Amino acid sequence: MSCHNAEVTTADPTPAPTGRSSEVLTVDPLDPDRSVIDRAAAALVAGGLVAFPTETVYGLGAHALDAGAVSAVFAGKGRPATDPLIVHLAAQDQVGSVVADWPDAAERLAARFWPGPLTMVLPRQSSVPDSITAGRDSVAVRVPSHPITQALLRSAQVPVAAPSANRFGRISPTTAAHVISELHGVYDLLLDGGPTPLGVESTVVDLTGEHPLLLRPGGVTLEDLVDELGDVGYHERLSTPESVDARAPGQFLRHYSPRTPLVMVDGDAVLITALLDLLADRGVCVALVELPADPDLAAHEVYGALRRGDVGSADLLLVGVLDVDGLGRAVNDRLYRAAQGRVVTDATSAVLDRLTTLGTR
Ligand code: TXA
Ligand code: MG
Repeated sequence: MSCHNAEVTTADPTPAPTGRSSEVLTVDPLDPDRSVIDRAAAALVAGGLVAFPTETVYGLGAHALDAGAVSAVFAGKGRPATDPLIVHLAAQDQVGSVVADWPDAAERLAARFWPGPLTMVLPRQSSVPDSITAGRDSVAVRVPSHPITQALLRSAQVPVAAPSANRFGRISPTTAAHVISELHGVYDLLLDGGPTPLGVESTVVDLTGEHPLLLRPGGVTLEDLVDELGDVGYHERLSTPESVDARAPGQFLRHYSPRTPLVMVDGDAVLITALLDLLADRGVCVALVELPADPDLAAHEVYGALRRGDVGSADLLLVGVLDVDGLGRAVNDRLYRAAQGRVVTDATSAVLDRLTTLGTR
């Protein structure tokens, strides 16, 4: 690749300081230190913001019933008030504090997938602040399995609202370094428990309607949900880009995005090589975001790979579409949004013209 502007840029601009101390505490995920966990839990209970690892991605946590702390999360992320937050609980027996109805489908999914990367949208209790639910009559709940998250929630004994610990619309964080680069100055404490095991967010399933609806593919696969419930609706975004369901307020087309334009390539290695060569011939500084062929490994790598692509010298990034097995559907969903819906299937001159414009503007 012959790139004209080979200077090294930084991944993220230095975030605006907000006066919070943003102390980083290292925690062993296999044996979380009690005193560190208790300190972080006390900070949450007192209305502070604590960033922590989960089995999916890092979250930016706040006491879910403290409206002031919750509004600091929205402000710190730059998240629109219309996009509701997930409430994290230590165990299923706490759902009654936030959820008003617990259908049979929820019982079955909880028995099979909790604790774990599954979020259920259910009718809310009136005690849940409107800011968490974005004024909707439903609330999203999940019981995470990561030992640090579990220890933190058990120590705090309060429900914890936690979006992914990135600025709104940006790439989700899978390491503490990602959180620091996105939100330093926003959180009071960050628990550094190393890379998150899964690497993509939880599956979000809406159980408020007549039929279960998959709002976001994630750590629990669609096939596993169908296996348990028999009938689960899902709009495959790769084929229906314009469909945005009213039950899925957070499913923006532009999301998880690097600053460098990204394009998905739905084709084989021959097509990808042809696009790279033909674009380089046209003077476009283009790079490939390489992911492991195994979809679960790809999930683990995807956000880090997008960040690395963004700090390189490329003006245009290409990435191949994955098989939908395992976590592949979730990875494709994230890549599709990171690419803002741009998918190419051939290397015709019309496609090359489009990509040249994208990579040279
Ligand atoms: O894996 C995860 O779920 C991570 C970790 C930290 O737990 N959290 C996370 O949160 O991904 P966030 O805020 O980045 O994404 C939450 C998603 C958004 O798409 C939001 O719109 C949706 O869940 N959501 C939350 N409450 C909802 C509700 N009441 N109805 C429909 N969607 C809801
Ligand atoms: Mg997020």
